[in-house]
Amino acid sequence: MTDAIAVIKTEHRNLMRVVNLFDIVMRAAAPGDGEGEGERRAPDFALLDAIVEYLQTFTDRYHHPKEDRFLFRALRARDPDAGPILDELEREHEGCYGATAGLKEALEAYRAGRPGAAERFAAAAATYRDLQLRHVQKEEGIVIPMATRALTPEDWRVIDAAFADNRDPLFSDDAQESARALYSRIVHLAPAPHGLGEPR
Ligand SMILES: [Fe+2]
Ligand SMILES: [Fe+2]
Repeated sequence: MTDAIAVIKTEHRNLMRVVNLFDIVMRAAAPGDGEGEGERRAPDFALLDAIVEYLQTFTDRYHHPKEDRFLFRALRARDPDAGPILDELEREHEGCYGATAGLKEALEAYRAGRPGAAERFAAAAATYRDLQLRHVQKEEGIVIPMATRALTPEDWRVIDAAFADNRDPLFSDDAQESARALYSRIVHLAPAPHGLGEPR
């Protein structure tokens, strides 16, 4: 496995771990057995904020653009058959940016206590998680194997360097540092056994 593939797979695992927390947070806020009819508890908004911020600052601004600019671009040049799946994945990247913005709006409505906003946020979060899961499965199941077959050692040197090194201002050390800090904040806020936080 090349260094870039290892980085991408780690980022995918972290992303799925983060989006799976939506469901855990929403279940913790749902009315439990024997509690008041339909009464929801306030969710852990600090954790929801950290998750949405991570998706905006890391996944949208860092992970997907890096795939477009390095991995997908190199694969397009080497294997014309990859065109349709790469077009599809790039469209999904665009869709993800809109979906994250939609999540943020839904979260604001939820925090403001608008009627039905909790259910709308839960639905948007579940849709978002499914979108990312299908997307990541296509990248790992189709694109990475295609790239492994088609790209040359020189292509991988460039891609590995891009994923390892942040000299490009778009992918600055600051961006990666703040993403790391946010990720560890999420892990600490997450209820056990999903993170290191206290059970809720
Ligand atoms: Fe992607
Ligand atoms: Fe990806």
